[in-house]
This record gives sequence, C-alpha cells and structure tokens, in this order.
Amino acid sequence: MTLRTRGTRLFVATTALAGLLAGPALAADQPTVEVLHWWTSGGEAAAARALKQDFEAHGGKWVDAPVAGGGGDAAMTVLRSRVLAGDPPGAVQLKGPAIANWAEEGVLADLDPVAKAENWNAKIPPVLQTVLKPEGDYVAVPVNIHRVNWLWVNPAVLAKVGAEVPKNWDEFNATADKLKAAGIVPIAHGGQPWQDATIFEAVVLGIGGADFYREAIVEGNEKALTSDTMVKVFDQMRKIRGYVDPNFSGREWNLSTAMVINGQAAMQIMGDWAKGEFSAAGKVPGKDYLCAEVPGNLAYSLNSDSFAMFKVKDKNAQAGQQLLAKLIMGDKFQEEFNLLKGSIPASTVVDLSKFDACAQKSKADLEATQKDNALVLSFAHKMALPGNVEGAIVDVVTQHFNSNMSSADAVKKLAEAVKLAKG
Ligand code: BGC
Repeated sequence: MTLRTRGTRLFVATTALAGLLAGPALAADQPTVEVLHWWTSGGEAAAARALKQDFEAHGGKWVDAPVAGGGGDAAMTVLRSRVLAGDPPGAVQLKGPAIANWAEEGVLADLDPVAKAENWNAKIPPVLQTVLKPEGDYVAVPVNIHRVNWLWVNPAVLAKVGAEVPKNWDEFNATADKLKAAGIVPIAHGGQPWQDATIFEAVVLGIGGADFYREAIVEGNEKALTSDTMVKVFDQMRKIRGYVDPNFSGREWNLSTAMVINGQAAMQIMGDWAKGEFSAAGKVPGKDYLCAEVPGNLAYSLNSDSFAMFKVKDKNAQAGQQLLAKLIMGDKFQEEFNLLKGSIPASTVVDLSKFDACAQKSKADLEATQKDNALVLSFAHKMALPGNVEGAIVDVVTQHFNSNMSSADAVKKLAEAVKLAKG
C-alpha cells in the first residue's frame, strides 16, 4: 500500500468516524418548527405547502399541526390547551388583538432582532404594524392581506336569468329573486357562526359604510347599534337567509365556494381565500368567475394572517422560529404564497405583476379606501375586537339568521349583548 492510498484510507476512516459522530449531532442541529394553522382547504393547503417547502429548502424541519375549521376557532381552542399544558407550538397562525393578549401573557418570543435585520418597518404597512408589535417590539410576522367583503360570482349562472353583477342591494335582491324563481341557489353559504358574521360584516359596510361600521361595531355605540341603518342591515340579512339552499347548515366555506365553481349556485359573499379555491380548481378570473365588491358603499375590510412564535426552550426550535420569521417576510415567499392563497402580499415591496385582476383590484381598493378613510379591520376575522365582544355580536347575528327574530328585536339584542360584553 502506497503512502497515498494509506492516506486516503485514513482520510476515509476518519471522515466516516467523524460522520458517525457528527451525523446525529448535525441532524439534531436542524432548525425545527411546529406550525399550528387552520389551512386545510384545497387553496389553503397549497399555500401552506409553499411555506413548508421554502422552509425545508432552507434546511428547516417542518412539523405540521393543522386544525381543521374555517375562521380558526378550533385552532385557537387547541392553542389555549397547548399553552396551558406548557407545550406551545413554535409558530402559530394568530392575528388581531389575540396577538396583544398572548404578548401580555409573556409567552411570545421577541422577533425584533430579525425584524431589524430585515428592515420590516420599511416593508409592513402601518395598519399592520400596530397589530404586530402591541408592546413596541415585533412578536408576529404577517404573511398576507386578505379582503373580506367580496362577492364571488359565476357569470354563466347569472346569464341564465339575464342578470349581471348587482351594483346595489335592490339589484342584488332582484337578481337573487330571479335566480330563486328559476330554481337556482342564489347564495352559496355555510351556516357556521363565523360565516354568518362574514356576511354580516360585508352588509354592515355595504349599507352603512366604514364610519358606521366603526361607530357601531368597533366602538359599540348604542345609538348606532340600534339605529335605522342597523335595522336595514338585519332586514338584508333576512333576505339573504331566504337565498341560501336548505342544506346550508354547518357547511364548510370551501364547499360553498365549490357550489359557485360548479354552477350549483350563483354567488358567495366571502373573503378572498375563496379565490384560492377557484385557482386550485384551475378557474380564471374575468372568464370563469368574477370578483366584485359587495354592493353599496366602497369599503375595505382587512384581514391579515400572521404567525406569532411562542417561547420555546429548545435551541433548534428557537432557530426554526427565527428562520421561519425571516423567510416569511422574504419577497419570494410573499409572492408564491399569496398567488396560491388568494390574498395580496403583506410586504409592500413585492411586485404584483404576476397577480391576477382580483389581486390588482384588492390592492387598488386598499389604497383608495386608505385615502378615503374607508379601510377597516375585520371583526368577523378576529382583527378588530376583543374575543368576548366579537363573540357577543356573532351570537346575535347567528341567532337572528337561524330564527324568525325581527330586525327590531335583533338590534335591541345586539346593543344589550355588546354592552354586557364590554362590561
Ligand atoms: C383566515 C384565512 C382562512 C379563512 C378560512 C380566515 O380567518 O384569515 O387565512 O383561509 O379564515 O379558514
């Protein structure tokens, strides 16, 4: 054996030994994150996969913890029990005042170092910054901006009754009446409290406008809550109740979107995560379906998903959190994720040239409503109110939707419930 071969052998042997020693150590030193989220529909899962793949491509280990249930109520229940058990997931889909609540509990990790290094202040719109740094430091990172008050339309179905996208509530009701008379389901809806609340929010904005929404819903002003405008809102909710099919109760939102996609129903009032379903089904906006604003006043109800990182002790889990936070605000991720999710990027520096007409409209309306002071945070999607006040409103809306309660009784109940919740 020559010296050279011996040397090579020795090298191979030492590397193998080092490999044996370093192998497990390397594996153990992998940034790891357990992600609790509620993205389980077709479009949502595709978007979540994009995040997972980006994380894995950067050497991370992703532990998926999905909790099914649109709107996230079930996921929040799981989160509470995990935190109480002293075993919080590393990253959690969280938003609105819940971020501030968990921050107050002292259980959220500080994301300020990565925020500073990545210059988040220059990329995140001020309306979101307030939510993401409730005590001055970033404790959550935003993935998107969803608009809630959209009307999704199947134009071929409307054409069957010679109708076009309704521009005001009279047209909306007249079109829905025609559809119903023709044996077509006018509104695809799933009877779950958060979905009822999603429609209610859109109707409050459409009929009352952004200032009314702020007064009645955000401030809980009794006069506004019992006003004629709110009576009209409940009148319209009653009309809409008459436009849903008999099997609406308990249906998941994405199955309602599928009804519009398949032509079983004409329209759906839902946030633009519905667009993720149209995209996943290969449908093209402007051709197979239309995205329009809900009739009435122009307003933008904003809902933004973000991830908060819960304090964890494990070094790899901490490294995973920092890596995930950094990737989420990256231009590549913000583009890829939002193309699939139906939303627009939360980062203002991302170019929208690959996005469709609905996303362009979302961005344009966001800017226009910001100027006109008609941009509001969605209460139905946990952005605007403390949980108990939100719950009080949602309960009344759902009770009204599922009974024969009059609008006059509904506004009275609403005002009482809000007053009680606010204490
Ligand atoms: C979330 C969306 C999600 C939708 C339906 C909303 O509250 O912000 O990301 O797609 O609920 O689950």
